[in-house]
Amino acid sequence: MNDPGPGGLSDGRQGFHGVCGRPFVDLEPYLDLSPLEALHEEICWGLCHVEPEYTGGGLKTMGVCAEPVMADPYIDYGDAIAALDEEGFRRFVSLAENPRIFDARKRQVYRFGDETHNPLTPAQARYLKLRHGVYFPWKVAYHLLENDRWEDKHQGAGKSFREEALRVFPRTIAYLRALPFQEIGRCLIFGLEAHDHAPLHRDTEPGATDTVGHTITLCPLADKGFYLSTPGLERRLEVRARAYWFNDMDYHGVEPRPWFRYSIRVDGVFQADFQRRLGLGPPCAGGLGQQPPLRVR
Ligand SMILES: [Fe+2]
Repeated sequence: MNDPGPGGLSDGRQGFHGVCGRPFVDLEPYLDLSPLEALHEEICWGLCHVEPEYTGGGLKTMGVCAEPVMADPYIDYGDAIAALDEEGFRRFVSLAENPRIFDARKRQVYRFGDETHNPLTPAQARYLKLRHGVYFPWKVAYHLLENDRWEDKHQGAGKSFREEALRVFPRTIAYLRALPFQEIGRCLIFGLEAHDHAPLHRDTEPGATDTVGHTITLCPLADKGFYLSTPGLERRLEVRARAYWFNDMDYHGVEPRPWFRYSIRVDGVFQADFQRRLGLGPPCAGGLGQQPPLRVR
């Protein structure tokens, strides 16, 4: 959790793991972003016609947050659930899809939420927020294309966009399908309510993989307040691009803003031609910053 980070602040990556020699890649010069303004209307309208979920309320107990976050006052659902007494646990699981599978006397053995076999139902998430003060950074999360497990988020085999999403977000999905991916393994909208923030965390443990996953994050208004930070908080870098690729082994978070913000994250495998345009030769293919700096506008 407290690794010193790669390289010094003076190298091209400026203390970040980064992507091919840079802290992140601004993808604006590489993509046609002119449709985003029109898509913004469809996305906001569409979010009024689906049931987004809460997510991210368990990052602390998942062990992925930076050290200063662990001392902040925001309540994690892992801690809140662990503190439930037998009656409180019964009440909590009564809001699960199948309450009968849980034995309140064995409540400490169960795991709930993201990346578990017991994802929270919307009612459970609301109950944890309202009754136990749990903070969910993303209160508007909607999968356009769902992954089964975190590890398969770059593999597109056997996956397709949700029927509902195709109906509600048709132009957006047409745009996403035209992005330079050879396969897409996960695609979702991450939205934060006004004044909410996302705690500083990282999605992938450094060293867990020797390549950087191919992702494109789209933020039509470039207003999200997304930033990267070095582990020791020596350096913070706000990302203001409408499209970017960052290394999720780096700590990242979202600043609060007094309005709703969202981005769309797409995980998959870039087309070979796009990799060449980015300057990723076959040996790099997302390698950890060993390549010369990219030419960006
Ligand atoms: Fe993240």
